Amino acid sequence: MSSIVPTDLTDADWRALHDLAVEAMAQAYAPYSRFKVGAAALVDDGRLVSGCNVENAGYGVTLCAECGLVSELVRTGGGRLVAFACVDAHGRACAPCGRCRQLLSEHAADGMVLAMPSGRMTIDEVLPDRFTADDVERVVDEQS
Ligand code: THU
Repeated sequence: MSSIVPTDLTDADWRALHDLAVEAMAQAYAPYSRFKVGAAALVDDGRLVSGCNVENAGYGVTLCAECGLVSELVRTGGGRLVAFACVDAHGRACAPCGRCRQLLSEHAADGMVLAMPSGRMTIDEVLPDRFTADDVERVVDEQS
């Protein structure tokens, strides 16, 4: 079976992603910031994965919605993220924070598209020149 690529997505696919992100947002645990977030993504094999933010009394321990999404991705068999949507409590597009752009990028398909508040953008546009496994391996190899 051939992999799904970002250009395959129809408007109906984007609506389904948005709806799943809204469903996830409704489950968020955000008693401290009261800023509920839901995230959803399409995997290159057609699976949908999602997550919500989970806050903690130790504020720094908070898990962003993307953490839950990536955890579900890996737990359910891995794969590459093709398309991503993140919403706030009003169902409006929410920009992933810098840390979560890095987290998502490690699992991104080539040309992964994110629904940003300013419109759809690729992973390269939202996180150019990112740190990757190649950067780690280059230095580790030099040492051995
Ligand atoms: N948050 C996310 O879940 N994802 C992001 O990319 C941005 C921020 C959450 C963390 C915290 O629970 C709340 O939004 C306010 O920062």
